[in-house]
Amino acid sequence: MTTAAFCVQLICRVVSPIFGFDLLVVLTILISAILMMSAILRGCDGSNLLDDTANFTGEKTARPNLNSLRGFDVIDEIKAAVNSACYGNVVSCADILAIAARDSVNILGAPWYQVQLGRRDSLTASLNDANNDIPPPFFNLSSLLSNFQSHSLDLKDLVVLSGGHTIGLARCTTFVARIYNDTNINPNFDATLKNICPVNSGGNKTFPLDTTTTVFDTVYYQDLLQQKGLLHSDQQLFDGGNSETDDLVRYYSNNPYAFGEDFGVSMLKMGNLKPLTGSNGQIRMNCRRVN
Ligand code: HEM
Repeated sequence: MTTAAFCVQLICRVVSPIFGFDLLVVLTILISAILMMSAILRGCDGSNLLDDTANFTGEKTARPNLNSLRGFDVIDEIKAAVNSACYGNVVSCADILAIAARDSVNILGAPWYQVQLGRRDSLTASLNDANNDIPPPFFNLSSLLSNFQSHSLDLKDLVVLSGGHTIGLARCTTFVARIYNDTNINPNFDATLKNICPVNSGGNKTFPLDTTTTVFDTVYYQDLLQQKGLLHSDQQLFDGGNSETDDLVRYYSNNPYAFGEDFGVSMLKMGNLKPLTGSNGQIRMNCRRVN
């Protein structure tokens, strides 16, 4: 076993006593979101962990991330704990994200899957890429699919990975247009949401992305069957017809095992997009800064 692989095995043991179970739930949520954004953007290279510098404006203030991706200080603590447990800087921030996302969704009930290691960290980050590449919640199905396909992910990956919304919250600002304009929304659900998000205020109030927000299960898909998708983009996956996405949503809604297995496969695919390896990039000492 390489030193890096051995140290990665330590990550969960190092992290658990520091944060305890509740914080691990929080950690899961933010790490999944960070991993997803990072991978979709430019490969899993930790670019969105970088702070702005005089030479570039990073991704933390990109429109989709501003006020959204949280907890970079938690990543800093994991990195410091891993460096200290491993007596040096041998595990990249990108590998830490990939492993920690796998282990934390595993704690919430997702099956364990093998993560390949050896990613290196980017030397830069791009505000423009973040603004242009992250799919916004108002996208329709064909735009979501084109976005995923442009990153070598297919329709099944789109449906399975959207199931990542089985955990976490969204701010009113990301679904207010849906609740006041869309017609494919459950009326009771719509009324509840309108109470929480009045038309012209409450942008930063939050609502769970599915009914069982801290459990990794298939309720996200069951909600879609009842037109209770929180984001416009979520409900785009199911309109009650016989399209491929409709069939997949029905299938996952009552096949937790298949969902868990397929989620692992697609997460692996996403975590392996355009990795930096060999002599490209570096292993950052501090995830916020290039060495
Ligand atoms: C299909 C395209 C996707 C779109 C349009 C999308 C959009 C969003 C939006 C708008 C939010 C709420 C952000 C906020 O309120 O600031 C969100 C949250 C979240 N997303 Fe996605 N997402 C997508 C795919 C994914 C994928 C693939 C994953 C992981 C596998 C993921 C994991 C999460 C998580 C865990 C949260 C909750 C974050 C929190 O509670 O802080 N999303 N997403």
